[in-house]
Amino acid sequence: MSISRRKFIGAGAAAAAALTFDKTADAATPRISVVERATAAEPAFRPVVVASANGIRGVARAYDMITRQNADTLDAIIAGVNIQELDPEDQSVGLGGLPNEEGVVQLDASCMHGPTKRAGSVAVLEDIATASLVAKAVMDHTDHVMLAGAGAKKFALEMGFKEQNLLTEKSRQDWLRWKACLNPNDNWLDSRSDSVAPPPGTASLPFDDPLHVKFTTGTINMNAVNAAGEMSSVTTTSGRSWKLPGRVGDSPIIGAGQYCDNSVGSAGSTGRGEANIKVCGAFLIVEFMRQGMSPDQACMKTIDRVIAMTERRLLDPNGRPLFDLEFFALARDGRFGSACAYEGVQFSVADASGARLVPMKFKFARSERPQMPEIRCRRA
Ligand code: GLY
Repeated sequence: MSISRRKFIGAGAAAAAALTFDKTADAATPRISVVERATAAEPAFRPVVVASANGIRGVARAYDMITRQNADTLDAIIAGVNIQELDPEDQSVGLGGLPNEEGVVQLDASCMHGPTKRAGSVAVLEDIATASLVAKAVMDHTDHVMLAGAGAKKFALEMGFKEQNLLTEKSRQDWLRWKACLNPNDNWLDSRSDSVAPPPGTASLPFDDPLHVKFTTGTINMNAVNAAGEMSSVTTTSGRSWKLPGRVGDSPIIGAGQYCDNSVGSAGSTGRGEANIKVCGAFLIVEFMRQGMSPDQACMKTIDRVIAMTERRLLDPNGRPLFDLEFFALARDGRFGSACAYEGVQFSVADASGARLVPMKFKFARSERPQMPEIRCRRA
């Protein structure tokens, strides 16, 4: 980031002047507030939190924690994504997340803490709702970066996390409907059919469109910077619905699902993880910002790279992707940006102007969006 000499000196002087001493503590220890943590060599920064649209409640909480409670940026954004992870109505992460093809909810998450340059990750985690906190525990308590499967769960239980069944009744019904629609010749009947009574206690099944079965790659990514220029990023998900057991998406991959370099910025993604993993999207966005691109430009250039790296079976005849993918970026100086394949997606921002949804930059107009074959019920 380039700053003028006048701004530089002014900010440094302000930071130095703001140093206070806590008289109740060791008198020799200056107690520095988050704003004042900016050193004389750095300007004060502008606190901002950005996330995917489903993080709108989370960015408000994280911003509040950062600005009012002097919370660490990673603690704040993890508290932000915990809202969705613990919400049984959210079928894209944590409790209530849509399961794999065997009806088992398997979670992925990762995080990075900019100031200390640390990272943690879990993949294929079962029975623990707050995968983001387990990822942070891997970062805080082990000499590893990533734990997966049974080992991740064992570790989480040892760390005191509580085991629970993550498959809600709503998600179980969606899974059963998906199974029933897979093959017209199997032994599963579509319980939406008028010849089949709904299961006991189920007034109506939660499917809006009988031709489609809900299919998600829903995920939540969140990034933050505080007034001292300290940054963090986190991504958490239940991954693609109906995935093969053991499938790992982009969310737990450091550099794909999220990435944070405290000297530049942070970035993350939601959407088809398989497409993002191949370009290391979050890392690439941060590298593009390091080269001088704005967050919007860096995200859009990464969408272009994804399309260039996509196999033909996942492109329509016009070369447009047959999947959704969204990128979010936050520069250390508080500029933020985004990009997605198709028009009509929003993302969450919280700063001094409040928490709000902002339209994402897009590559193709809504009218250019092809039918996404992978969400169509095969029986229909
Ligand atoms: N982006 C989430 C996933 O593909 O698992």
